[in-house]
Amino acid sequence: MQRTLVLLKPDCVQRRLMGKVIGRFEEKGLSIIAMKMIRVTPDLARQHYAEHVEKPFYPSLEEFITSAPIVALAVDGLEAVNVVREMLGATSGLKAAPGTIRGDYSSSRQMNLVHASDSEESAKRELELYFNESDYCDYEHVAASFLRAIDES
Ligand code: CMP
Repeated sequence: MQRTLVLLKPDCVQRRLMGKVIGRFEEKGLSIIAMKMIRVTPDLARQHYAEHVEKPFYPSLEEFITSAPIVALAVDGLEAVNVVREMLGATSGLKAAPGTIRGDYSSSRQMNLVHASDSEESAKRELELYFNESDYCDYEHVAASFLRAIDES
């Protein structure tokens, strides 16, 4: 079982796509175990996007990610890091395959609606930026036995 961080970015919130995107994760059988709407500060943006801070597009990315609220989700599931990344599609909505979230709803490289951690190490670091241990609501998923066979978990 893996845990990953998903952010519904300002464009997702403003375009009223939160329900559709969250629904995709639920329909896939992933478990949302924490959820928080916040306004990202410039300081949090720099921590979250530390690997991009020196890149030419960073000032514009920071302006965008701090421009309106975002929703942070902690998502649990088998191979959740990779499964969620595949569901998002390529970074640019123009390149993302149809059927992926970005492929279906985004036509931008920057305003690509959703962020997800790209590895287990990134997930651990990024989850700590948004959630405390007490934020996680682990609960039994009553339909779990209808999502996969016992020997698959
Ligand atoms: P995300 O998956 O959150 O990771 C970094 C973000 O930077 C990315 O989604 C885009 O929103 C943005 N991004 C990546 N590459 C570019 C780029 N070349 N120009 C502008 N924004 C970018």
